[in-house]
Amino acid sequence: MTEVSLRPTGRADLGFVTALERSRENRDLIGQWTDDEHLGAIEGRGGREHWIIERDGRPAGYLIAYDGRHERAGVYLKRILVEDKERGTGGEALRQLIEKVRARDGVASLWLIVRSDNGRAQHVYRKLGFERIEPRGEEGARYDRGGEPPGEGCFRMELTIRAC
Ligand SMILES: CC(C)(COP(=O)(O)OP(=O)(O)OC[C@H]1O[C@@H](n2cnc3c(N)ncnc32)[C@H](O)[C@@H]1OP(=O)(O)O)[C@@H](O)C(=O)NCCC(=O)NCCS
Repeated sequence: MTEVSLRPTGRADLGFVTALERSRENRDLIGQWTDDEHLGAIEGRGGREHWIIERDGRPAGYLIAYDGRHERAGVYLKRILVEDKERGTGGEALRQLIEKVRARDGVASLWLIVRSDNGRAQHVYRKLGFERIEPRGEEGARYDRGGEPPGEGCFRMELTIRAC
């Protein structure tokens, strides 16, 4: 049986991560970071975290999250990308991230930003319980500071972790 797991990304994984992110297949699907931006998240700078998704013990993708608790904005999933899509890897990796986030103190929600035309990602998120949100005013500003504002043609989705 196939096993999917998460482990912290190390500096030695940088080549795998950037090659996957910048590949012809993926570069129009996902945001693009410099090596330094990835290294900052790998080192945990600014509350960022970087995880390698493994499938049967081999790197199969990665995800990046920001801890937004200081802004009462839960945890923000900045990016998730898998190499071989639609084989259950991304959904299982996200389920495992949710478990990790649930184990932390004071996290009200896990949230993310998705493009309106990304039906596959939205399906994966909805299946795990994420729902579209439109926080306004000061609440919206907290999400902006804890993560970032949604760009044109994008919206936020959120999974409630616990009432805080
Ligand atoms: C989004 C992503 C991480 C999901 O990981 P994955 O391993 O491909 O997803 P899974 O195999 O776990 O699940 C895919 C599901 O989407 C469904 N799906 C595929 N294309 C779809 C579409 N156009 N519309 C709706 N659902 C779709 C599949 O049927 C499957 O559903 P099921 O589990 O109910 O059968 C991965 O596809 C990816 O890396 N995409 C490119 C980058 C990206 O879009 N990242 C997210 C940015 S917000």
